[in-house]
Amino acid sequence: MPIRDNIILTGFMGSGKSTVGDLIANRLGRAFIDTDVKIEEEQNQTISNIFKEKGEEYFRTLEKLAVADICRNNGLVIATGGGTLLNKDNLKIMEQTGIIFCLTASIDIMIDRMGNRKSRPKAAEKNRNAIIELYESRLSGYNNLPNIIDTSEKSASETAELVINLYNKIIEIHSQ
Ligand code: S3P
Repeated sequence: MPIRDNIILTGFMGSGKSTVGDLIANRLGRAFIDTDVKIEEEQNQTISNIFKEKGEEYFRTLEKLAVADICRNNGLVIATGGGTLLNKDNLKIMEQTGIIFCLTASIDIMIDRMGNRKSRPKAAEKNRNAIIELYESRLSGYNNLPNIIDTSEKSASETAELVINLYNKIIEIHSQ
């Protein structure tokens, strides 16, 4: 059994990946990496600007490179972007290096958590119905992911606790 000890959070925009990831990393004393933040730092540009100037396809290439790079490490807490693990290659790499948790919530809650949406190019220009349409078009992809956690009625802190407990159990089972 290869070491798969990264904790990887994924899910639709507004599912709480970054907030929960940060909490988990703090509690476990691990480093936290957000794929979008890594891309922004390396490109010295916001995700919005990358989409605007170079387009989504270019962003997805950067995302793939970021995933490959991050997955060279162990012992991290990783938050992906909302579309990252809908790509089969990214999913395959991440599965091999960590335990994936897919956060979800009711679509109303996720839209609410997104706030003003300006920094999210896949949601910025869309009204509520168009965001629901995007979510529904991706739903089978998210449902395909392991360890789906509904965070609708949980605080970020409770979700972090739940992920840590589940992670410990999974690691324990794998080490037996
Ligand atoms: C995207 C989600 C964003 C970011 C990019 C594309 C998506 O991340 O990766 O704007 O396709 O769902 P968040 O889910 O962290 O907002």
